[in-house]
Amino acid sequence: MREKKKYLEGTAQVLRDSQRENEKYAVNVLGKEFIVYPNVFSPKYFNDTEFFAKELPVNKGDEILEIGCGTGIVSIFAAWKGASSIIATDINPDAVKNAMENVRLYNLENRITPLQGDVFGPIKNDRFDVIFWNVPFAYVKRRGISMTERAVYDPGYRSLKKLIHEAKEYLKPGGRLLIGFSSTIGHIGFLKGILKEAGYKTMVSGAMDGKQFKSPKVNSTKVHSVKFRLFEARL
Ligand SMILES: C[S@@+](CC[C@H](N)C(=O)[O-])C[C@H]1O[C@@H](n2cnc3c(N)ncnc32)[C@H](O)[C@@H]1O
Repeated sequence: MREKKKYLEGTAQVLRDSQRENEKYAVNVLGKEFIVYPNVFSPKYFNDTEFFAKELPVNKGDEILEIGCGTGIVSIFAAWKGASSIIATDINPDAVKNAMENVRLYNLENRITPLQGDVFGPIKNDRFDVIFWNVPFAYVKRRGISMTERAVYDPGYRSLKKLIHEAKEYLKPGGRLLIGFSSTIGHIGFLKGILKEAGYKTMVSGAMDGKQFKSPKVNSTKVHSVKFRLFEARL
């Protein structure tokens, strides 16, 4: 528990560092350049983006929903891996604009559609082969957090519960719910409990110790090495 508290404090520090940016800037992820807006979850400060951009398992022709797309980088890599269409949503309007700019940068407007909204809010009658969210895995009790804080904190794990319970209405038969999570910061027991209660079969399809990444490049994250896991859940 003390260890988790240390990681939570580290995350809060990295988030504060990232909030000092006051203009758009460029980052390099897996050899490609992208734009990051100031109050959007940034791969310059957090290395989950790179992990999920690399590890997200995509089959050719998959129709994908990425919730909480941030800069849109994971969706763009999913398109390069062969996904036929991707809806990329985020609750943060700046993230949606940021994702749109990166989508245009690589001429992917015909395959990736960024939309603003809360979890499944912007989705109408579509069903997907893959629903993915690199969730804000830090649990906090307090509500009323800022838009930037929502990138890492999920009050009461309310959004996580919504994702898991409502995904059933948006998955095609045989579809996969992929959840990006952290064993160092998140409460894995909670996550597994919600998945079980909702009737999913779950396996870990990818795991990575943050230390194995060369980026991000800022000091705060070098001392704050978080472990990530990709959970794959099916009904
Ligand atoms: C950990 S960040 C991941 C960003 C991006 N996918 C990446 O890996 O770089 C979580 C994202 O979820 C978004 N988010 C938080 N709560 C949300 C909600 N209720 N509905 C949709 N998006 C949400 C945040 O704004 C943030 O962009």
